[in-house]
Amino acid sequence: MKIITSPAEMKAFSLTHRRNSNSIGFVPTMGALHEGHLSLIDIARKHCGCAVASIFVNPAQFGPNEDFAKYPRAFERDCGLLEAAGCDCVFAPAVGDMYPDNYGTYVNVDGITDTLCGASRPGHFRGVATVVLKLFNIVLPDAAVFGSKDAQQVAVIRRMVEDLNLSVRIIAAPIAREAGGLAMSSRNAYLTIGERREAAAIYAGLAKSVEMYNDGCRDSQQIKNCVLTEINRSSTIKPEYVEAVDTKSLQPVDKIDGQVLIAVACRTSESGTRLIDNVVLKDKNL
Ligand code: PAF
Repeated sequence: MKIITSPAEMKAFSLTHRRNSNSIGFVPTMGALHEGHLSLIDIARKHCGCAVASIFVNPAQFGPNEDFAKYPRAFERDCGLLEAAGCDCVFAPAVGDMYPDNYGTYVNVDGITDTLCGASRPGHFRGVATVVLKLFNIVLPDAAVFGSKDAQQVAVIRRMVEDLNLSVRIIAAPIAREAGGLAMSSRNAYLTIGERREAAAIYAGLAKSVEMYNDGCRDSQQIKNCVLTEINRSSTIKPEYVEAVDTKSLQPVDKIDGQVLIAVACRTSESGTRLIDNVVLKDKNL
């Protein structure tokens, strides 16, 4: 597995592969990898001849009081996991190469970045869209794979790709879960033992929403209340929001019709960890 740190070298690597008709499947990450990330590599390999992952903790997507400094970093371990998963190349640029001193260009995706997580993390999706566009321009992927846990991120990237006429196919991969249902996340490493146990309540709530939907309930408020009730059974998991929104526009819906995202964000009371999760409610024929 090749490890590249220079953007120019990464672009040269990708151009060589593309000239040889070898398609590139890209998995952007911030490292501290878990099985969920490795499942994205699997998908990239299934769709493309060459799998590239990036490891870059992107300062532009963290707010001033967020966890940029303490975000888990495990480069050697991550490279071992990626190699074992069949990744062909890791791109791990330095912050100064991505954002030199005179850096001044940012991508704003309007309309869908100020709700849900965007409401409590101003500027977060501007940072995500900016780095993802930069990574796309350096790695030149045919397809890029993102985890569906970050449903708003996937919606923002799809919108950016459409609005800016980018030639990258976006693949959303299913959420990888731990045995108790907790969605896998690099930030789960922050959880105390008690919080980790109680965090299963988030998926328990979402699973109840699927049950209610399958039993015929189409009322968003009833479904949101049921998710909240389940989460509130725990003493350390505090809901930030539980929303029912259209999967594309991310606008709230009163009635579950078509495809609706039930999205949850919580904060834990001991370690202050922010956890997100979601399910999509949709008719079996959709
Ligand atoms: O989902 C993530 O890990 C990050 O937001 C991403 C897409 C790698 C951009 O920094």
